Parts: sequence; structure tokens; C-alpha cells
Amino acid sequence: MSSPLRIGIAGLGTVGCGTLGIFRHQPELLASRCGRVIEIAGISAKNKNKKRDSDIKGLPWFDTPLAMIDKVDVIVELIGGDGGMARQLVETALRNGKSVVTANKALIAHHGIELARLAEKRNVVLAFEAAVAGGIPIIKALRDGLAANRFRRVIGILNGTCNYILTSMREYHTSFGEALKEAQKLGYAEAEPSFDVDGIDTAHKLAILAGLAYGTAPAIDKVYVEGIRRISLRDMEFAAELGYTIKLLGIAAETEQGILQRVHPCMVAANSPLGAVHGVYNGILAEGDSVGTVFFEGRGAGAGPTASSVVADIMDIARGVAYKPFTLPVENLASLSFSGMENLCCSYYLRLSVTDRPGVLAEVTGILKDEQISLRSFLQHSHQPGETVQIVLTTHETKESAMKKAMTAIGKLESVKEPPHMIRIENL
Ligand SMILES: NC(=O)c1ccc[n+]([C@@H]2O[C@H](COP(=O)([O-])OP(=O)(O)OC[C@H]3O[C@@H](n4cnc5c(N)ncnc54)[C@H](OP(=O)(O)O)[C@@H]3O)[C@@H](O)[C@H]2O)c1
Repeated sequence: MSSPLRIGIAGLGTVGCGTLGIFRHQPELLASRCGRVIEIAGISAKNKNKKRDSDIKGLPWFDTPLAMIDKVDVIVELIGGDGGMARQLVETALRNGKSVVTANKALIAHHGIELARLAEKRNVVLAFEAAVAGGIPIIKALRDGLAANRFRRVIGILNGTCNYILTSMREYHTSFGEALKEAQKLGYAEAEPSFDVDGIDTAHKLAILAGLAYGTAPAIDKVYVEGIRRISLRDMEFAAELGYTIKLLGIAAETEQGILQRVHPCMVAANSPLGAVHGVYNGILAEGDSVGTVFFEGRGAGAGPTASSVVADIMDIARGVAYKPFTLPVENLASLSFSGMENLCCSYYLRLSVTDRPGVLAEVTGILKDEQISLRSFLQHSHQPGETVQIVLTTHETKESAMKKAMTAIGKLESVKEPPHMIRIENL
């Protein structure tokens, strides 16, 4: 066997302790699969005396992770955040010729290209399988197994917290607020949940996936982002009646106007592969020109699944498997143009709160006709005459710019009592 690969683990929270746990439980298995022992030559976190979920007895402790760099071959960054110690540690390690494994999607989405340049310069590895979809090896899949394909679309449920909330709303008829509280109680959502529910976490992951799928740098500033706070129980119930469910999707697609990256709630057929991804699970669907549609599903977060990906990256380094972080050398990445939402063409769900009087529907459909939007279906529930009723319209494919114009005009009608609520429908 070759000499041991020495690693330093920085951050001993959920993922750090999960990673330590795998090394503690099956070191022989890992060594036999790599042909080499992986030695934990250092650990570091903020507070030395904190009780940990994994046994750290006997492991060399460092008060600052920066002090581990000299003692190891690989830094495993599991601190988090796109700045602060995480960024300083990764940059310093790469500059000093040490490989880095990280689960940090914010850092890779915002600074991945600068870091990849550093890694290339020093001829070391920067690996981040765990940064997207936890235990699902989607980065390896896009880079290796699907390397021969051009991708029409890559679509993912990439945030377990949002998927848990939306699944609870559908299954148990809870409101968004109640489902969020339950997610927080179970440890699926942070006390400050905006990164998850406002779609930012999904945007980070989508930018990384799109970069790999289209051979370009992650473009986080070119992702349209809308979260799930405005999804009501009423929408979820109408969706079910129409045969749909609502999911927060990250979608990257090649269009005539350029790559379009978007994160927003979507209606998808309830019986489609992504429609059937429930709870904290993640799912990713990729459409390649040769392979057709491939679908991945699994746990997108948590100690075990995320550590599974972190350890796989470390094992690759131990085996001598080395890829450029974004597959191609940074200089060879394509400089692509990106499209805006105004060019999106899809079907729409539109829910209106209207006064129940004759002629209201004619006013609404008149506006849709002016924008050349054709209707696919119409729903209205039984009601008492004269009261405010909810009507739901779905459209055939139309341009987002036309839909936005129609919504503005419909919102101005006297009989429309609340701003129209629109959800895009994604055909899968
Ligand atoms: N949790 C998941 O399911 C999951 C899934 C995929 C990816 N990720 C990513 O994995 C990374 C870690 O997430 P996590 O959930 O494990 O976070 P976490 O539980 O909050 O743990 C963070 C760890 O970093 C340590 N830390 C914070 N500041 C530090 C500093 N200045 N120096 C040294 N250590 C410091 C903390 O120390 P103390 O313990 O002493 O406070 C803690 O051990 C993040 O990038 C996250 O986005 C997480």
C-alpha cells in the first residue's frame, strides 16, 4: 500500500461529524477500496469543549483550521458560508498546494472559478460533490457518465426543507406557516429559514449544476429566484384537483436566447418522477441528447448522505483520480449568453379572487385574448351568489412577457379583489 493520505477536517457539525463517523466505523473498507489508508491528521471547529455527535477522542485538535494546512495533504472544509473562515481556509490551502474537499455550495457558487484557478495553478484537486443534492452523486454523473451529452434541460428539487414543507401542505393540508414550524421542530429548517424558503440555496446548487452541464462558469447572478412563501393551501388544493403538485424547482435549459436559469415554484404532474419526490428527498432530472431522460432521487441533506459524498471525494484523491473542478480548465470554459425570464414560454396557472357577478369571466378572458393567451382549463368551486369566489384558469404555452402584461391588466379590474396569483406549469 502507498503512504497514508492525511486529511484535516475543519467543521465538526452535522456534516463534519457524519464524515468522521464513516472513517471511525469502516476504516479498513475505505483503505481496501483506495489501496491506501486515510489518516485523520487534524480536526478543528470553533469550540473545543462542545459535545459532538462523533467521537473525537485521540484525534489531533487544532484551535484554528489554518494551522492544519501544513500537517495534511487534503483539507476537508465543512464550516459553511461564502466568506469568513471557510473561504480563507480553502484559498490558503489551495495556494499552499493542498487539495480541498468541500460541501459548501455558497462558496462554490460565488467563488468557485477563482478557487478552481488556484487549484489548477498548484495542480491540486478542488472537489465539491456534497455541495449539490447531498448524497446523490450528480456532479460525477454530469461530469463522467453523461459526459457525451448536450443537455436540453437539467431540473432539480434541490432543497429538502422546501420539499418537506410543500409535501406537508399537500398531504396534511397544513398552511405554509404551520409546515415551516414543523420543519423547524424536526431540524429540517433553520430558525432563520430564508436561505431555504426564498430559493437562495436552490439557486446556489442550480448555478453549479448548470456550470457543469453547459461547460461554463457558475453564474449565480444570472439565476432568476422566487421562493415558496406565497404558495397557499388553496393553490395546493387546486393543483391536486388539476392532477398537479407544487414543487420548488431549479431549472437550467438551453434556449434560442441563451441559457435560462430559474428557481421558482412549479406545478408538475403529480405522477411524474419529480412530482413523486416527497419529504426531505431531492430529485434531479437531466435530458441529454443521446441518453434521453435520466432521473436521480435520494437524500439531499443530513449527516450520512452528505458525508457519503464528502468521503467519496476524499477517496478519489486517495486513488489518484483528479479532475479539473469544472471538468475543463478554467481558460477553456465557454463564455455563454444567458436568457431572461421575459423569454420563457410555458403554461400558467392563474388564480383570481373575483366578485361573483355576470360578465367577470368575459372581462378576464378578453384581456387574455388581447395578449393572445389561449385557455386550457377553467375551475370554479360552488359558492353563494354575490360573494367573492376563487377562479382558476390554466393556459396553453405562452410567453412570460404576455402573461405579465395580462396579469397587470386583470389586477386592475374592479371585480378582481386581490392581485392575481400565478404559478408556472412545467411539463415533464
Ligand atoms: N447539513 C446538511 O445536511 C448539509 C448538506 C449539504 C451540504 N452542507 C454544507 O456543509 C457545510 C457544513 O454544514 P453543517 O450543516 O455541518 O454545518 P454546522 O452543523 O453548522 O457545522 C459547522 C461547523 O463549523 C464550525 N465552525 C464555524 N466557524 C468556524 C471557524 N471559524 N473555525 C473553525 N470551525 C468553525 C462549527 O464549530 P462548532 O461546532 O464548535 O460551533 C461547526 O462544527 C456547509 O457548507 C453546508 O452548506 C450541509
